[in-house]
Amino acid sequence: MANEILVLGATGKTGKRVAEKLQKKEMVVRAGSRNGNPPFDWDHPENWNTVLDGVQKVYITYYPDFVTPGAMEKIQRFVDTAKKSGTQQLVFLSGRGADEAEEAEGIVIDSGLPWTVVRSSWFMQNFSEFFFLDNILAGYFVVPEHKALEPFVDLDDLADVVVEALIDDKHNGKIYELTGPELLSFNDTTRMISETINRPVVYEEVSMDGYTKILRDYQVPENIIWLMKHLFTEELDGRNESLTQDIEDVIGRKPTTFREYVVKTDQTGVWNIQN
Ligand SMILES: NC(=O)c1ccc[n+]([C@@H]2O[C@H](COP(=O)([O-])OP(=O)(O)OC[C@H]3O[C@@H](n4cnc5c(N)ncnc54)[C@H](OP(=O)(O)O)[C@@H]3O)[C@@H](O)[C@H]2O)c1
Repeated sequence: MANEILVLGATGKTGKRVAEKLQKKEMVVRAGSRNGNPPFDWDHPENWNTVLDGVQKVYITYYPDFVTPGAMEKIQRFVDTAKKSGTQQLVFLSGRGADEAEEAEGIVIDSGLPWTVVRSSWFMQNFSEFFFLDNILAGYFVVPEHKALEPFVDLDDLADVVVEALIDDKHNGKIYELTGPELLSFNDTTRMISETINRPVVYEEVSMDGYTKILRDYQVPENIIWLMKHLFTEELDGRNESLTQDIEDVIGRKPTTFREYVVKTDQTGVWNIQN
């Protein structure tokens, strides 16, 4: 069907929310997933023309992260393919304060297509749908020593921003820098979750070497260990210790607080031990 919106990472943390919100607005969504029909795989560019056939707009999320080898080449090739196949608009999920993310943004900005960049702080849902979930379930939250506070973003807010950008041309050519409403430490976030789930979660900071050893003991894949080391050394250095108004400016309501995120997430049962 023509005029579809292709959502990459449609089964992932941001993509599934964007797809659901678009469908609620009766937009026609094509799921960008290795299990989609047709399937989308960053490692199989030979299928991208089929995935992009009839697509009007694309929400681009790159997996796993811009800092991983080959990311720029794949994003460049995808954007070129989208342009040639007649795509008319790109909305790109980027990360705040990361050099590689800005390089990737440049590919989208220089594409010659209408674009919006959504440059996000760390996701709140990392504590419930990604690498920090296991720490919460284990009752032991360990991170490498670091100094910076982070303005975590709720993904329902982020998805609302992405949907606005996809449906209203006034967001073309804009870079939105998304933050939550408060700067928090990992100690703060662990304490709030622990209080709400009514279970102790011990917080500890260790050296980077100690952290790496713990992740290896838990058999975390090496590429995720590498990514975590990169994030804690390259991004949590204070460069993102500021708040923006962009979420409120785009969606007209205040961003979700971490406490609100914790309360709604607790109700899903994801932090229950028996899960
Ligand atoms: N975590 C954070 O705090 C944060 C903050 C700012 C920016 N970001 C950026 O967010 C992006 C990730 O977005 P997300 O969190 O929404 O995604 P995600 O939840 O990490 O994963 C998205 C989806 O990627 C798909 N996938 C896995 N391997 C794939 C492959 N080879 N080809 C195509 N798809 C593949 C999987 O779907 P299928 O299994 O269905 O194929 C998965 O559900 C990254 O670029 C990251 O840099 C993250």
